[in-house]
Amino acid sequence: IQGGEARLLESYLQALPVHLKKGKKKDTQNVLSLLITEKSEQLPSPESYTLSVTPERILIRATSGAGLFYGIQTLLQLSQPSGTGYSIASVEVQDSPRFAYRGLMLDVSRHFFSKEFVKKQIDALAFYKINRLHLHLTDAAGWRIEIKKYPLLTEFAAWRTDANWKTWWNGGRKYLRFDEPGASGGYYTQDDIREIVEYARQHFITIIPEIEMPAHSEEVLAAYPQLSCAGEPYKNADFCIGNEETFTFLENVLTEVMALFPSEYIHIGGDEAGMAAWKTCPKCQKRMKDEHLSHVDELQSYLIHRIEKFLNNHGRRLLGWDEILKGGLAPNATVMSWRGTQGGIEAAKLGHDVIMTPNTYLYFDYYQTADTEGEPDAIGGCLPIEHVYSLEPVPTELNEIEKKHIIGVQANLWTEYIATTQQVEYMVLPRMAALAEIQWTMPEKKDFNNFAQRLPRLMEIYQGMGYNYGKHIYDIKSNFTYDSDKKAVIAELKTVDNAPIYYTLDGSEPTTSSTLYKAPINITSSTEFKASAVRPSGNSKVISENINFNKATCCPIELKSQPTPKYAYNGAITLVDGLKGNGNYAGGRWLGFQGDNVEATINLGQPTEISHVSTEACVDVNAWIMGATGMSVAVSEDGKLFSEVANREYPACTDMNKKEIVPYAINFNPIKATFVKITIKPTSALPKGHTGEGKPAFIFIDEIFIN
Ligand code: ACM
Repeated sequence: IQGGEARLLESYLQALPVHLKKGKKKDTQNVLSLLITEKSEQLPSPESYTLSVTPERILIRATSGAGLFYGIQTLLQLSQPSGTGYSIASVEVQDSPRFAYRGLMLDVSRHFFSKEFVKKQIDALAFYKINRLHLHLTDAAGWRIEIKKYPLLTEFAAWRTDANWKTWWNGGRKYLRFDEPGASGGYYTQDDIREIVEYARQHFITIIPEIEMPAHSEEVLAAYPQLSCAGEPYKNADFCIGNEETFTFLENVLTEVMALFPSEYIHIGGDEAGMAAWKTCPKCQKRMKDEHLSHVDELQSYLIHRIEKFLNNHGRRLLGWDEILKGGLAPNATVMSWRGTQGGIEAAKLGHDVIMTPNTYLYFDYYQTADTEGEPDAIGGCLPIEHVYSLEPVPTELNEIEKKHIIGVQANLWTEYIATTQQVEYMVLPRMAALAEIQWTMPEKKDFNNFAQRLPRLMEIYQGMGYNYGKHIYDIKSNFTYDSDKKAVIAELKTVDNAPIYYTLDGSEPTTSSTLYKAPINITSSTEFKASAVRPSGNSKVISENINFNKATCCPIELKSQPTPKYAYNGAITLVDGLKGNGNYAGGRWLGFQGDNVEATINLGQPTEISHVSTEACVDVNAWIMGATGMSVAVSEDGKLFSEVANREYPACTDMNKKEIVPYAINFNPIKATFVKITIKPTSALPKGHTGEGKPAFIFIDEIFIN
């Protein structure tokens, strides 16, 4: 191989812990040959490679440096430390990626990470043949890239009053000059950026910069308030689109950004604009009138169109979050579908390229287990590695031509709750391994069990390379079902490696003297259940469940309105299955409803004396989840004619940061009932000052008790 790519690979190989000497073309023994050849059936894409290992030689063939680089990655992954060197079994590999765009996004705004740490993550991306690193460089929490024309962006907008994002966000959300006491933040100089971009290039990775517009721009508008509708700092999150100065600013910034990043794609954000200020801003209103725009969505679209034209004129392409569909998609834009896959489907049907990054599968800031006790505080969600792995990114709703527009897959690591490098790695690994298989492997070759068996070896590699990682794969997987005839909850337990599981039913800590799990356990009365898997390397985390039997447990239940599909899990039975939810609303134990009253009718099977009904809501106001404002209980003998026996009103919550489980209970004079109808009144709308002000709140309900 020759030229620039040869030099890249040569320096890469020299850095490996294997000693290689330069050979001659005619050498056939003890050689590692890297060969660039013509495109062929075996090598259909520039990233394809073949790897052949025999006792005499190792041969990697590809049509480009990228293919050779991936062949080297596979070779390294197949090699095992052996004595003072490495050994590798004879093998023939022929390999090609499914998607050309294989990305990971790192948010360096909410918490800033050093260029050295970014390079360490690039090493991990290279290992996984991921070829795009999207850097979320700008957001309210801090501007992270030096722009020569606008020094305040890094003298001021990159520094905030609190190192911890959560404290800062829930406190005053103010900025400081870099040299003021308490200023916390950081940024990449243009030299740092060049260094990162070059390091990435050596690993066949393109860095995609994201410069947020029109929203998520509080930090810019604090430094340059004339670009906001209010004209003063700390008032707006969105740029004023009526002001020509906004375009001058954005184009000047993008000009410097394009000079630093060779990436064809420039990401312009586009997500979550509040748009409220535009509705009353005279400049924005004038712009809408002059451009014949009837809705603020179209005003956003006007900005995106103009920015796209600017980027296209400079030979670049616009990439944005799926909200850029609002008000009309710019003609050449590529859409990153994050609010599920719907935006991606819509864009592909319009003939636009799409990168799939649906939040419920690929937001690595979500918890990686439902059992969040002992986990570092996270933004919410529940995204175990098996769920990541299960994503099929090409929607069946698309026809063959539309499907070709799904050009890639990306996972995102937002860092609001991730302040340390250790936690970044903990959230990303090993879920990145599952991401890599979605990106690279054809669906018919994916197999979670096979993948899970390879994970322990990967974890050894992470350990050896000095990466932190989650070990949740070793947790006991429990599955609870119920038998309404026998009124039993059935616990089924599994471990990925079939490690033996011991359990107790009396709340005591399980040990190897406890009962060995052999078959599903039938539980028919209130039980404090605990289990642990035993391995030579140490015992697993103890899983525990308080299974609460009451008169409603395992009884037939019907809901008048169904939960939101995303939060429907096992459906209505979730409310009477004996299992209570924890603080994680997305853990599968809570049903999430939006809009109507929650009305559940439980059939006790026979006239039964009752005097108590209670339930709980998992409230997380930042996540748009509010509590109940009322609850009522009605009873019936025939399931048709109901009479109300009690009702309560509850005050609406006003604490914008409330995050807790709220109980609701009603006691009443004993009465006989066969059917019990419980009606829970949600909070009608999100309160004033909330980002979703006026929109319907969610309510998350679990276990209904009747006694
Ligand atoms: C996003 O998560 N707001 C793109």
